[in-house]
Amino acid sequence: MALLFSILFFLISSVTACDRCVHQTKTAYFSKASALSSGACGYGSLALGFSGEHVAAGVPTLFKDGAGCGACFQIRCKDTALCSKEGTRVILTDLNQHNQTDFVLSSRAFTAMAQKGLDQDILKRGIVDVNTRGFLVNTRKKNLSVRVEESSQKPNYLSIKLLYQGGQTEVVGIDVAEVGSSNWSFMSRNHGAVWDTSRVPAGALQFRFIVTSGYDGKWIWAKSVLPAGWKVGVIYDSGVQINDIAQEGCSPCDTGSWK
Ligand SMILES: *[C@@H]1O[C@H](CO)[C@@H](O)[C@H](O)[C@H]1NC(C)=O
Ligand SMILES: *[C@@H]1O[C@H](CO)[C@@H](O)[C@H](O)[C@H]1NC(C)=O
Ligand SMILES: *[C@@H]1O[C@H](CO)[C@@H](O)[C@H](O)[C@H]1NC(C)=O
Repeated sequence: MALLFSILFFLISSVTACDRCVHQTKTAYFSKASALSSGACGYGSLALGFSGEHVAAGVPTLFKDGAGCGACFQIRCKDTALCSKEGTRVILTDLNQHNQTDFVLSSRAFTAMAQKGLDQDILKRGIVDVNTRGFLVNTRKKNLSVRVEESSQKPNYLSIKLLYQGGQTEVVGIDVAEVGSSNWSFMSRNHGAVWDTSRVPAGALQFRFIVTSGYDGKWIWAKSVLPAGWKVGVIYDSGVQINDIAQEGCSPCDTGSWK
């Protein structure tokens, strides 16, 4: 019994809370980035704009029913003769339905892992072994933003898409209310990064976002996001940034930089 406990203790203590666990997996590529960006997260052509066409599809454990949309990963292939140490950085925009690899990258992201001049060599491989880890996008440049989707219809239906959500956490809930009111309505995830509600408050709208921070949830309050005259197709700045990091448990924890 004592031995069992000490083994258990050893197992638990060797797994540390970690910002960036390294995962070993495989990745393939898809030649059309536009197919991935128009994928299950619903970003459309916007994804290509905010990631330099470095987009990726992830298996269901990464996609997380849409909560994984916008997550960012640094991915480097293990073959040091073929690939650079820095690898490539991608944003998750789609669900990977195939089960051969955890990730499918756009070809531009895939070849970005290769050393100079070896683009064709990595493409010929088709599938490579990789190490991956999450990273926090430099959100200093971008606030969390809300795009009003075309399906929205005043005053009965509001559908929004979240953009620039930070990359290393998940938005797990959204509430909306008129600015200055405490009568909050919850929104539901429609699919991917798209949320909606048929209880649309009148007037200018504020939002609160529940994000994973550490091992817990945390509220982030955006006090004034949509003006009373909100319009479909327009992207509104929330004025807040999400810099939280969802902790993972792993061993070893990678704190160094991949360069
Ligand atoms: C992968 O998918 C194929 C067809 O979709 C299926 O036949 C195969 O059993 C799957 N393999 C695993 C490991 O799930
Ligand atoms: C709260 O907001 C909902 C949706 O906008 C509305 O239907 C309801 O009447 C409001 N309740 C109060 C007490 O204002
Ligand atoms: C983010 O929002 C803050 C507060 O509204 C604003 O001052 C800042 O200019 C915004 N940053 C960007 C990059 O838009």
